[in-house]
Amino acid sequence: MLSSTRKVGQIFLRNSNTRNLQSTCCALSDTLFVHRDTQENNPDVHFEFTSENLKRAEAIMAIYPEGHKKAAVIPLLDLAQRQHGWLPITAMHKVAEILNMPKMRVYEVATFYTMFNRNPTGKYHVQVCTTTPCWLRGSDDILNCIKKKLNIKPGEMSADGRFSLSEVECLGACVNAPMIQVNDDYFEDLTVKDTEEILEDLKKDQIPKAGPRNGRFAAEPIGELTSLKGEPPGPGFGVRSDL
Ligand code: FES
Repeated sequence: MLSSTRKVGQIFLRNSNTRNLQSTCCALSDTLFVHRDTQENNPDVHFEFTSENLKRAEAIMAIYPEGHKKAAVIPLLDLAQRQHGWLPITAMHKVAEILNMPKMRVYEVATFYTMFNRNPTGKYHVQVCTTTPCWLRGSDDILNCIKKKLNIKPGEMSADGRFSLSEVECLGACVNAPMIQVNDDYFEDLTVKDTEEILEDLKKDQIPKAGPRNGRFAAEPIGELTSLKGEPPGPGFGVRSDL
């Protein structure tokens, strides 16, 4: 019998007579990992690289040695997404054809990384990191603010097609948590007020300055240094004198 249940992040710890540790069925993502044919995304939708992007694709593939051209799959998928605005299944097929690899191998890559949008996105695709460091620093408030301001939930697009919202895992800027990504830009060290201002600017098609919003230049301490304050010790520091 369960005596109590305590939520820790995505994990539920259950104190019971049997002391079992159990994980929930995780939310993982607001996007399905599998493809479902839709009107705008099905194997009959036309996709061809433009001649300019074909040249880019060739230049990218030239970086990789013979026998390893398939390693260009991620940059080519990215190129396809930048051309089309998102990544339809026919773009994956085109990349598979160019790299002479099975379609399934391309699907595996495209479904693994959340940076590949396999459904249409809004003009401004807002991605909110809710992984532990951002969560501890208030990403729930940031997400709620965006949901309220845009009137959409994660996985949805606004009726005018200008905004789409995704909840994503760590975007690698934990030291500037909480943070969001809008298209290619990171907005970091956010408060709810900052988030409102960013969305207001975007609604007016004004792109706010990317980066930290709390006065930091990057990921340096906000105040004075708290460590590494002295001269670094030279070679041999801490080594026994008789060695
Ligand atoms: S946890 Fe949010 S950027 Fe890493």
